[in-house]
Amino acid sequence: MNLKGRSFLTLKDFTSDEIEYLLNLAAELKEKKKKGIMGNSLKGKNIALIFEKPSTRTRCAFTIGCIDEGGHPEYLSKDDIQLGHKESVEDTARVLGRMFDGIEFRGYQQETVEKLAKYSGVPVWNGLTDAYHPTQILADFLTLKEQFGKLKGLKLVYVGDGRNNMANSLMIGSTKMGIHFTILAPKSLWPGQELIKTCEDYAKESGSIIEISDCLDAVEGADAVYTDVWCSMGEEDLAAERIAILKPYQVNDDLLSKTKKDNTIFLHCLPAVKGKEVTEDVFERFADVVFDEAENRMHTIKAVMVATLGNQ
Ligand code: CP
Ligand code: NVA
Repeated sequence: MNLKGRSFLTLKDFTSDEIEYLLNLAAELKEKKKKGIMGNSLKGKNIALIFEKPSTRTRCAFTIGCIDEGGHPEYLSKDDIQLGHKESVEDTARVLGRMFDGIEFRGYQQETVEKLAKYSGVPVWNGLTDAYHPTQILADFLTLKEQFGKLKGLKLVYVGDGRNNMANSLMIGSTKMGIHFTILAPKSLWPGQELIKTCEDYAKESGSIIEISDCLDAVEGADAVYTDVWCSMGEEDLAAERIAILKPYQVNDDLLSKTKKDNTIFLHCLPAVKGKEVTEDVFERFADVVFDEAENRMHTIKAVMVATLGNQ
């Protein structure tokens, strides 16, 4: 599999084989790191990390993943650079492309990360936009593989804001990989029709089933229940409204009992607002797997950089 020179902007651009390849590479890199074997695949590579929004996991995963492979990461917050203030995305992209070998971008518009890729001429990786969070999905799927030994045929139920970056990306990733995917959300927070249609096409090919429901019983049979914050970054002023409509969709013991299974796991991309989208009790019971998922951000992001930019 050769992904050299490719950008990682949305999972729509990747086949199931390519996603599988990245997951296997991440597992391999994880095993090596646990044994203390470090790589040098990014030796001599300089990587720009642009952040318009804050981050703990994604920033640290890119930083450590890059250094582990012998590369140099440079953190550029929105307040440090001219992007969006004094300089266009196109010009910033052309400057960074002359100096850096790869660029990570986290911010608001998907269009920005796409422009960076178009104009920089180097691989660009999406570290989260309002629309998608594709590197998170790799970590989620690596965690599912570690827990269940497979992806195909699992049932993943996402509960909460069904039209945010996580819901969108999980729907794309799941339908590509043959995971049965349910969104459990109030109708006003269902994903866009166009994306559902695209994912239905992926699902036809992979054999997965998509269900969008506002009825809590749709959680039945879930192998994994996933949730995310009710207000994504940039939507903080919608908090009161979201809490009111999403309260019935909290992941708590009652909801988990509706799976009618005793081996369902709970996942969360983090950061979590305990007491809102998930109870403290449920969160703590599944803390080991949730923090495996957080750790897997690093192994999977490292795999993306190695695969698209690495020397080997
Ligand atoms: N899950 C995730 O992307 O976390 P950060 O916002 O801390 O990067
Ligand atoms: N939907 C969340 C994901 C955080 C990782 C947000 O965009 O804030």
